Amino acid sequence: MKINISDVTYKPLGIESIPDLLEIQEETFEYAKGDTDFLRRNTEETFAVCFPAPSLVLGAYYGGEMIAFGILHAAGETKENLAHDLDEVTDINENANVKLTIVRPAYRGNGLQRALITKLEEHARAAGFKWLSSTVSPGNPWSKNNLEACGFTTAKILQKYGGMQRILLCKKI
Ligand SMILES: CC(C)(COP(=O)(O)OP(=O)(O)OC[C@H]1O[C@@H](n2cnc3c(N)ncnc32)[C@H](O)[C@@H]1OP(=O)(O)O)[C@@H](O)C(=O)NCCC(=O)NCCS
Repeated sequence: MKINISDVTYKPLGIESIPDLLEIQEETFEYAKGDTDFLRRNTEETFAVCFPAPSLVLGAYYGGEMIAFGILHAAGETKENLAHDLDEVTDINENANVKLTIVRPAYRGNGLQRALITKLEEHARAAGFKWLSSTVSPGNPWSKNNLEACGFTTAKILQKYGGMQRILLCKKI
C-alpha cells in the first residue's frame, strides 16, 4: 500500500513492545513462505538487550498502527558487535550495529527502511558513535540496496549466525 511517508511518525520503544516486535517478525517469516535464511530469528532475549541506551528501538506508526521498526544496537564488547569483523574499526566501542529493520509486508515500497536507518544514524551520531555496521543476506537485495543508498559499503562476506552467508557492510559517520 502506497502511503504518504510524511504521515508516518516515529517513537522510541520500550521493552514492553517486545511481543509486538515478535509478532511483526513472525508475520514477516510467514509472508516469506518458508524462506528463513534472510533473517536471523530474534527471541525475547535477543530483542531485550537492544533497549538500554545508547541502543535504540524505533517504531514507525501510521494511523495508530506500528507498520515498521528499526533497531540500533550498541553491542559494546559483546560478540554481537559487528566491528569485531571490521578491519577498518580500531575501537569496537565506536561502532553501533544497525541490527534489524522490518517493514510490515503491506507497507513495503514506501522507503521506510531508508527513513528508519537515517533516524538510527542521527541517533548514533548524537551518541558519539563513529561507525555503523550491518549484515544482510545475499538473497535480500532490497535491504542491501537501502543500506547502500544510506551510504554503507560492503566490507566482506562472512558466515554468520550458525552458517548463514552474510554481507557485512559499514559506514563511517
Ligand atoms: C528489507 C525491507 C525492510 C525493505 O522494505 P521497504 O523499506 O519498504 O522497501 P523499499 O521501500 O526500499 O522497496 C523498494 C521496492 O522493493 C520492493 N520490496 C521491498 N522489500 C521487498 C521484499 N522483501 N520482497 C520483494 N519486494 C520487496 C518494494 O515493494 C518496492 O517495490 P516498488 O518500487 O515496485 O514499489 C523489507 O523488505 C522487510 O521488512 N523485509 C523483511 C525483513 C528484512 O529482511 N529486514 C532486513 C534485514 S537485514
